[in-house]
Amino acid sequence: MASPRKMFWVPIIQVFAIGILVVGALSPDYYSSKCPKALSTVKAVVVAAVKKEARMGASLLRLHFHDCFVNGCDGSILLDDTSTFTGEKTARPNNGSVRGFEVVDDIKKAVEKACPGVVSCADILALAARDSTVFLGGPSWKVPLGRRDSTTANLTAANTDIPAPTSNLSTLISSFANQGLSVKDLVSLSGSHTIGLARCTSFRSRIYNDTNIDSTFAAKLQKKCPRVGRNNSLSRLDTATPKHFDNCYYRNLLNEKGLLHSDQELTNTTTTLSRVKKYVNEPSTFFKDFAKSMVKMGNINPLTGSKGVIRINCRKDCNGSILLDDNSTFTGEETDVPNNQSARGFNVVDEIKRGPSLESIQRIGSSKRFIYGHYRWINRGQPRHSSGIQYSG
Ligand code: HEM
Ligand SMILES: *[C@@H]1O[C@H](CO)[C@@H](O)[C@H](O)[C@H]1NC(C)=O
Ligand SMILES: *[C@@H]1O[C@H](CO)[C@@H](O)[C@H](O)[C@H]1NC(C)=O
Ligand SMILES: *[C@@H]1O[C@H](CO)[C@@H](O)[C@H](O)[C@H]1NC(C)=O
Ligand SMILES: *[C@@H]1O[C@H](CO)[C@@H](O)[C@H](O)[C@H]1NC(C)=O
Ligand SMILES: *[C@@H]1O[C@H](CO)[C@@H](O)[C@H](O)[C@H]1NC(C)=O
Ligand SMILES: *[C@@H]1O[C@H](CO)[C@@H](O)[C@H](O)[C@H]1NC(C)=O
Ligand SMILES: *[C@@H]1O[C@H](CO)[C@@H](O)[C@H](O)[C@H]1NC(C)=O
Ligand SMILES: *[C@@H]1O[C@H](CO)[C@@H](O)[C@H](O)[C@H]1NC(C)=O
Ligand SMILES: *[C@@H]1O[C@H](CO)[C@@H](O)[C@H](O)[C@H]1NC(C)=O
Repeated sequence: MASPRKMFWVPIIQVFAIGILVVGALSPDYYSSKCPKALSTVKAVVVAAVKKEARMGASLLRLHFHDCFVNGCDGSILLDDTSTFTGEKTARPNNGSVRGFEVVDDIKKAVEKACPGVVSCADILALAARDSTVFLGGPSWKVPLGRRDSTTANLTAANTDIPAPTSNLSTLISSFANQGLSVKDLVSLSGSHTIGLARCTSFRSRIYNDTNIDSTFAAKLQKKCPRVGRNNSLSRLDTATPKHFDNCYYRNLLNEKGLLHSDQELTNTTTTLSRVKKYVNEPSTFFKDFAKSMVKMGNINPLTGSKGVIRINCRKDCNGSILLDDNSTFTGEETDVPNNQSARGFNVVDEIKRGPSLESIQRIGSSKRFIYGHYRWINRGQPRHSSGIQYSG
């Protein structure tokens, strides 16, 4: 039986623990009451997509990485470019290479149907990365949740903060350190390259220039990836089992069969090489470390509390920008293909703006709903009357 002294401490410890949990932290139970079907809904769409095409699992895993390394895991990579906005999709590490956006759209539509306006795009990426890994035979982990979505993106940061495949080990280490990730995280997370494909442009220099490459392996790759041309010709990151999440990636490295220069760099120093060997000999240690590092990566600078928004369409920010008129120095969204000559009701919005709030438009007759529909699609989730969305008409 507990002594009175011990019992006295219990409530204090509980209060302390709750206090810690509340301070902007993510929680695996975040949607348990807000949207009990969130996790199963995400998983169902991911499984269907990866069944259809195994590589999609790799592409979804990579999206989460490229999201998190650029101003934190905030869904910024998902924002489409528009006439007035340049996002991250054309950044060097992303352009012509990141994929899976249609699957994210499908997931988002499914969770919106289950729980409108509740589940963030950033959380969808974190869950899809986990579900993809599991489906392809990798480890599972509990995904901390409660991220909110950015209203913006950063092309410059996408170009500087996502490491290039030509990086040497010291550059890789510092780029991970910039995100609060260790050398151990670098080695375990690089194990993601046990699945998926890379373009010729990503490894051309390695197969023609590097000395630490198996010559038969290099010769085979050179056939598919000439010195000039065929830039988008694809090869397996894990030459052995590209559709299976296992530890073969590390075995390849010991045989000088890493596809990317950056991959093979992990065998250059004794610290990283000994970890590579550990993961070859102890696949369960790789799985355990990978799961831990994924949680760590997923915790990079999330937007929580009143920061950020829940985007309804992961490709679009919610800032009322459809209402901005074109003028001599500015081209807005009114002439974007979905709106040009078809979106109407702007003068009604102007009238209403002088009176009640924008939200009240929905209560006015059906002929005015159309513009609100487009506005809402772009704008729901924005904290009402928040700063920075004051429009004069
Ligand atoms: C360590 C630094 C890293 C570098 C330099 C790097 C670089 C690359 C490059 C160049 C590609 C091929 C892109 C293309 O040619 O289209 C690629 C693919 C991939 N990367 Fe990484 N990556 C790194 C770390 C990571 C991490 C941390 C993850 C996940 C947690 C990851 C997951 C993937 C996956 C799954 C693919 C295959 C994607 C597909 O097939 O669509 N990578 N990476
Ligand atoms: C939000 O609207 C402003 C225009 O006021 C625009 O500059 C910004 O890029 C928009 N954000 C997105 C993601 O469209
Ligand atoms: C992105 O790739 C496309 C073709 O894949 C190319 O036309 C375009 O110039 C590239 N954009 C940038 C910014 O590199
Ligand atoms: C975008 O990223 C660059 C490089 O990390 C940084 O210097 C800049 O301040 C960022 N811009 C915004 C608007 O956050
Ligand atoms: C690694 O690459 C960086 C940037 O290209 C360079 O400054 C540095 O000297 C390189 N380090 C080694 C050990 O090669
Ligand atoms: C192929 O890639 C190289 C370098 O990565 C680039 O200089 C060249 O313009 C690309 N060729 C085409 C046809 O895009
Ligand atoms: C080999 O390396 C040199 C020097 O870094 C570079 O100029 C050349 O383009 C590389 N060769 C290939 C085929 O990429
Ligand atoms: C790693 O080893 C390769 C091949 O020996 C060499 O080209 C490269 O510069 C080395 N990198 C570092 C950071 O020492
Ligand atoms: C054009 O429209 C933009 C966005 O509404 C505004 O910031 C700018 O001041 C306008 N310029 C002129 C000349 O009216
Ligand atoms: C918008 O529609 C008008 C009239 O149909 C057309 O002249 C114009 O080119 C269109 N603008 C865009 C950006 O599609």
